[in-house]
Amino acid sequence: MDSSSVRDILDKTRALVEEHLSTGSLSSRIQAQDQVQKLVWALEQPRDAIMKLAYGPAVTMALKIALDLNIFSVLAPATSPVPLAELAAAKQADPLLVERVLRVLVAKGIVNEPAPAEYLPTAVAKELTQRPSIGVLESLFCEFIPLFRQTPEFLKLTKYRNPEDPLATALQYTYNFNNMDGFTWLCGNPDALRRFNGFMEGQRTDRPHWADWFPVRERVLDHPDLGPETPLIVDIGANRGHDLIGFRQRFPDVPGKLMLEDLPKVIDEVRDAQDLEAAKVETQVFDFFNEIQPIHGARVYYFKHILHDWSDEKASIIIKNLKPAMRPGFSKIIMEEYILADQNAALLSCVTDMAVMAFCSGLERTRRRWDTLLTENGLRVIKYWVPEGDGLGIIEAELAE
Ligand SMILES: C[S@@+](CC[C@H](N)C(=O)[O-])C[C@H]1O[C@@H](n2cnc3c(N)ncnc32)[C@H](O)[C@@H]1O
Repeated sequence: MDSSSVRDILDKTRALVEEHLSTGSLSSRIQAQDQVQKLVWALEQPRDAIMKLAYGPAVTMALKIALDLNIFSVLAPATSPVPLAELAAAKQADPLLVERVLRVLVAKGIVNEPAPAEYLPTAVAKELTQRPSIGVLESLFCEFIPLFRQTPEFLKLTKYRNPEDPLATALQYTYNFNNMDGFTWLCGNPDALRRFNGFMEGQRTDRPHWADWFPVRERVLDHPDLGPETPLIVDIGANRGHDLIGFRQRFPDVPGKLMLEDLPKVIDEVRDAQDLEAAKVETQVFDFFNEIQPIHGARVYYFKHILHDWSDEKASIIIKNLKPAMRPGFSKIIMEEYILADQNAALLSCVTDMAVMAFCSGLERTRRRWDTLLTENGLRVIKYWVPEGDGLGIIEAELAE
């Protein structure tokens, strides 16, 4: 790229970073990051860029080795540089091996090296001591990277048909099983399930909880029919209940029950991982393909990252099994999902699309696709709520009649 084009990008970058520093808003941060990325690309040479992109899995591998070596938990509390020998001692590892792994993390800016072979944590290194972020790394590394490795071959074999069948995805091809979907498979693999559930806890990343930006009082709580025994929120496919627990923290005293629904093995795992009683969250075993929703007349049936796991055909079954439980004029659906931009969709939504495609033949949807799916299944979209930034949107819907 010629120098005047690079200067133009640099000027825009400076302006957007300044704007972010003065407003501190989420959208200005994302715009500034996108622009910084453009600047990096403007300074990059194509062959170097390809080499760095293709080596991405080696960085994830180094992160996973560092996690296994307890490097992040030793580094996180440090206020002065930690010598290599101390980091290696945590697992009696060969210091040379540890140094090689750390070099990658330093080169990526995940760990600082203020003096040769002495290290300090960054905010990202500290975050890698937290269960949700460890879950993201562990599940993506252990279950998804082998799956990504096989997906191109699977798509070639299936003549590049868009995957629709959850019983015949790259997952079955990779792990050599059949007759069950990915979630049932996880239920038979306790370690993978624990990692996946950690991933679910962490996948909201730094984006705000929905109750921080959705007008909960006006759209949910201000209703005369709400009482202490009313199911206030039924979280369908709630996993570890993190979204319900987050809701309870924000609204500790509202009347009504918070109900967690998921598959039996998932609920067993959640009971070990989470103090649901403290958050006053009740559990209900439920299979959304094979049962009609057992909790009737809830104010909110909440789904997060559920319909994105399934093709339109499968998602229609989930909706069909929910509708008989909904009370017309009272019950609503609140879905937290990506609402894909028609153009230049944000990276996290696009890579999630690849992950659900490979794992369960799911897909992220544009607003048009959401419209078609919901209206064809007898629902009326009250409003699409699009947050500031690049996080999940909210689709608020009710029975069409
Ligand atoms: C992608 S995760 C989303 C979890 C959670 N809502 C979140 O956003 O963190 C999908 C969830 O659906 C659950 N699930 C999958 N198949 C199900 C079924 N047939 N019936 C009920 N839950 C199911 C999984 O166990 C998992 O917890």
